[in-house]
Amino acid sequence: MKFSAFGEKFTSQAGITSLMEDLGNALASGSDMIMMGGGNPAHIPEVQAHFKKRMTAILESERDFQRLVGIYDPPQGEIEFISVICELLNREHAWGLKPENIALTNGSQAAFFMLFNLFAGDFSDGSQKQIQLPLAPEYIGYSDAGLKHDFFTANRPQIEHIDDQTFKYHVDFEKLKLNDETGAICVSRPTNPTGNVLTDSEIAKLDALAKQYDVPLIIDSAYGTPFPKLIFTEATAHWNDNTVVCLSLSKFGLPAARTGIVIANEAVIKAVSSVNAIMNLATGSFGSMIAYDLVKSGDILTLSENVIKPFYLEKAKRAEGQLREKLSGLPFALHKVEGAMFLWLWLKGCPISSQALYERLKLRGVLVVSGHHFFPGLNDDDDKVWRHRDECLRITYSQDDLLVEKGLGIIADEVRKAYAGI
Ligand SMILES: Cc1ncc(COP(=O)(O)O)c(C=O)c1O
Repeated sequence: MKFSAFGEKFTSQAGITSLMEDLGNALASGSDMIMMGGGNPAHIPEVQAHFKKRMTAILESERDFQRLVGIYDPPQGEIEFISVICELLNREHAWGLKPENIALTNGSQAAFFMLFNLFAGDFSDGSQKQIQLPLAPEYIGYSDAGLKHDFFTANRPQIEHIDDQTFKYHVDFEKLKLNDETGAICVSRPTNPTGNVLTDSEIAKLDALAKQYDVPLIIDSAYGTPFPKLIFTEATAHWNDNTVVCLSLSKFGLPAARTGIVIANEAVIKAVSSVNAIMNLATGSFGSMIAYDLVKSGDILTLSENVIKPFYLEKAKRAEGQLREKLSGLPFALHKVEGAMFLWLWLKGCPISSQALYERLKLRGVLVVSGHHFFPGLNDDDDKVWRHRDECLRITYSQDDLLVEKGLGIIADEVRKAYAGI
């Protein structure tokens, strides 16, 4: 038996596949591993209570129960849910959306697969295009989502040194050069892995560039606004006819519902619906059904603003304070904590690589992610001359506070040993 080129590409041990396996194996082994590696959201009791209440109401309503389990939704997604999402977004942002501007997907990860392959790869006129990631580091989940190799191009960031131990990445517009081979621009905002939030002015510049080259600007808002709103800084939501915004119910607390929400012009929504039909027939109904009331009432916004965001902000501050204290005296820096659920630690001039440190931490029972995974699209030559790529760790702080503190202690201990050459 031999796999096709598609089969070979999607079964090769690369990027997210091996990472997810590693995380999964650690969990499955039933060990006491401290999980600071994944992007799983926390289970917040107040939010869970809403899901339980809604599930009970669904079970008690014959009509809703049938819609949950017994009906194929249209390929665009569940129409009533799309309609309340549309109203909510128009109330919040006055984007003037119609239901034709919204499609659902089975998780936003699936949306990126569709969008990337709609806008990049082989074109019927013989040309080939790539997805431009203007700011590396960027989400590892993009890296293998192209049907072809060499699907992404990425740019190194400008590094703003806020103080000795704090920095922030910015898009380097001097070096960001689009061309005829650019198929789309994509950024996550807030960014996984760094928690960076691109400024309004960066978004405005990217929007202008995208329009100039007649390519879409894709904004991955999995952690962003209006829900789950894991943004701890000022940032204005952005959408227009040339922008594709991707939202998700996952980080709101429903990762198992696999519900992504794509907001785009009608042609893009039709295309996503077609791919949905071919790949899935229909999208799953669970997310739309369970979140329907929360979206219709607007409670999804108040919960995001008043419960979810403060929950993560407090955890972020606690973890950041603890890590800074535990690493004091070492030549480290943390990315300014602006959102999402990660600390991005830069170990300047560390004698061992972030991957080696990851291995040592795994042996000590702490799982983080080595930063080098988060540079899809930066080619080897770039990597060879840029050590920074191998000097960073992504640390998730969404789990139990005591475990996070213990994990941070072990991380600091290993980092100290590494600098001491032990
Ligand atoms: C930046 C970013 N985008 C998209 C996703 C995909 O999320 P989902 O498919 O659960 O909507 C994730 C998941 O961790 C993410 O971190």
